[in-house]
Amino acid sequence: MGKKYVNAALSESHDKNSMPVLEGTMGPHAVDIQAMYEQHGLLAFDPGFRSTASCKSAITFVDGGAGVLLYRGYPIDELAQHSNFVEVAYLLMFGELPDDSELARFRASIEQHNLLHEQVLSFYHGFRRDAHPMAVMVGVVGALSAFYHDIMDIRDPRDRINAAIRLIAKMPSIAAASYTYSIGRPQRYPNNNLDYASNFLQMLFGAPNKEYEVDPILARALDRILILHADHEQNASTSTVRMAASSGANPFACIAAGIASLWGPAHGGANEAVLKMLVDIGTPKNIPKVIARAKDKSDSFRLMGFGHRIYKNFDPRSKVIQQSAREVLAHLGKDDPLLDIAMQLEEIALKDEYFIERKLYPNVDFYSGILLRAMGFPVNMFTAVFAVARTAGWASHWLELQEESHGIDRPRQLYIGKTLRHYPKKK
Ligand code: SDX
Repeated sequence: MGKKYVNAALSESHDKNSMPVLEGTMGPHAVDIQAMYEQHGLLAFDPGFRSTASCKSAITFVDGGAGVLLYRGYPIDELAQHSNFVEVAYLLMFGELPDDSELARFRASIEQHNLLHEQVLSFYHGFRRDAHPMAVMVGVVGALSAFYHDIMDIRDPRDRINAAIRLIAKMPSIAAASYTYSIGRPQRYPNNNLDYASNFLQMLFGAPNKEYEVDPILARALDRILILHADHEQNASTSTVRMAASSGANPFACIAAGIASLWGPAHGGANEAVLKMLVDIGTPKNIPKVIARAKDKSDSFRLMGFGHRIYKNFDPRSKVIQQSAREVLAHLGKDDPLLDIAMQLEEIALKDEYFIERKLYPNVDFYSGILLRAMGFPVNMFTAVFAVARTAGWASHWLELQEESHGIDRPRQLYIGKTLRHYPKKK
């Protein structure tokens, strides 16, 4: 078939109105093309899902043009300022902010499940000490599906909620053990006298031979990082979790798939890549060279922490994190030259036609590495922190998907391979 346009192709067949327009509560409407192939023999081609809504969802809304991010309708900056991660996890999972008794019960259920089965710890010993924490987390979370398979019936809503709570509860213990294992320190147990973020810090940085005193400023900064990274619509890792979940797979295995996707430098791995980029830049005088490389089409280098598939304005999260980085550095009396380089890089890039024309702004990853480094996190743990936070979003999308029944996700393709041919007969 030669190059045709959709109107001509559709008008040759049934009534053009066979594809209704669906209206959401906010954001772009969607043409419902589910019946298009059946009725018109045509597929839609959208390899990066730039114009495709893969599902209906009520969890998070992003307006990329306006730089708006809402969790169940609440603006991210208000949640970062007034809420805490456990309350936000409840909001994402159940759709409403909890009252005091609901929050207390939810927090207690997380504390009930934050221990790791002692046998899980043996999985760590199969990894080299220098294994990347994200590789360890993919393996350990996937292995949890072996522990919680037969005792869980994902058709039972209570079991589903329990699975989501187990995942949110255990992720800090799993991430912290990935770090302590790499430095040869014994894994620390959670301490339920501490809040979620403080517990995560003491499991990461506490040592068996001395009391670990949680710095409340650092705990608040970590809690804010967790809130900001908790969910973000149908990003690559969330879509990975939803696609795996659509086959009815074990939720722990689905989350392990999400961790794998998040690890990529184009996605959650960008925070680690940003810091490496800033260290490579080394001094502000190297910034023009880096900007030139980012603009050079013959160079695969991209300005890490810049650009976003949805945000064509400031990522509302990056501003909150930049402020947090300043507060923590001031609190610790530290001065990080990388923060100066990052701010000068941002200032120069935002004045450059290349970035302006393409609406490339700093995203959530641009400053998060500077904040995490100031807090004492090693670079290779940055994305692990992102994974702990995003588990709340992944679990919420997993729950949401179980309630709808569009069946298994099975995209089609535009085939460009060989036409039919037969195996050559042996001479
Ligand atoms: C996250 O999806 C989410 O919601 C993700 C996330 C979440 O919370 O889950 O927000 C978290 O992953 C944030 C993004 C972190 N990644 C990075 O910082 C890596 C650097 N950024 C780029 O790789 C890129 O911007 C992406 C991957 C984030 C977005 O890529 P797109 O939407 O596919 O953009 P594109 O490749 O179509 O770029 C459009 C143009 C291109 O130039 P032209 O071909 O038009 O000439 O902009 C250029 C690109 O070359 N471009 C960049 C650039 N990002 C895009 N040029 C230099 N540096 C960059 N960072």
